[in-house]
Amino acid sequence: MNDNPNAGGMDRVVISLGGSIIIPGDRDGEFLKRFASLLRDLSKDMELFVVCGGGRTARLYINIGRELNAPDHQLDEMGIMTTRLNARLLQLALGDLAEQSVPTTVDEAASQAGRGKVVVMGGTTPGHTTDGVSASLAEAVGATRIVNATSVDAVYSADPKRDSAAKRYERLSFQQLKDLLGDEHGAGASGVFDPMGASIVMRCRIPVLVVAGRDLDEMSKAAKGLTIKGTVIDG
Ligand code: UTP
Repeated sequence: MNDNPNAGGMDRVVISLGGSIIIPGDRDGEFLKRFASLLRDLSKDMELFVVCGGGRTARLYINIGRELNAPDHQLDEMGIMTTRLNARLLQLALGDLAEQSVPTTVDEAASQAGRGKVVVMGGTTPGHTTDGVSASLAEAVGATRIVNATSVDAVYSADPKRDSAAKRYERLSFQQLKDLLGDEHGAGASGVFDPMGASIVMRCRIPVLVVAGRDLDEMSKAAKGLTIKGTVIDG
């Protein structure tokens, strides 16, 4: 018996699209148009699932909510709303190429698979991030790989924007990723991948390719499983 939910089907690829890629406030509409056109091309050869992050909109609401002493799970709920808002924006950019409703659970997103449309979602429940959702979705649909489109161009030992001595990794094992991340979640926290997601990809052995999300050539190569400039996490 084969327990891959996508046995024999077209390759399925999950893209975890950080909110910092969707709405940094830098020609965002233009980027979304170009990204939509890339997804249209890619979807001739693969089935695509995009999980959108909340980015600075999430951070704005979470920071103010924190000033108001709201508990973490309520801050997470606001973060989730912003991820769904971004998912809706991407659906607008994709038009008839995408399902036009934002699934609120991984099961609902998985049930939209196999209809010839790009499935776009945001977060699901408090306590993790959209990287964690991407990993759960990848498991549920039997994805070949996850592309993690972030605001840095690879995984580093420390934040390269703050620490010029940060080491850049071309390749990491799943265990090395887990060791780098630890297991803390805080609303709005931003590591290169989510600790829950890291456990899932390690258990299911789904490779994660970390790329600079605004570099569409990199994104395209990562989605196709070609050589990238970013970090490959596998093995
Ligand atoms: P993300 O952290 O996933 O968005 O969600 P992001 O910052 O744009 O993603 P990256 O880091 O660039 O990839 C924003 C916030 O929403 C809440 C968390 O508080 C998270 O920090 N959230 C999101 C959840 O609680 N559960 C989810 O399933 C998704």
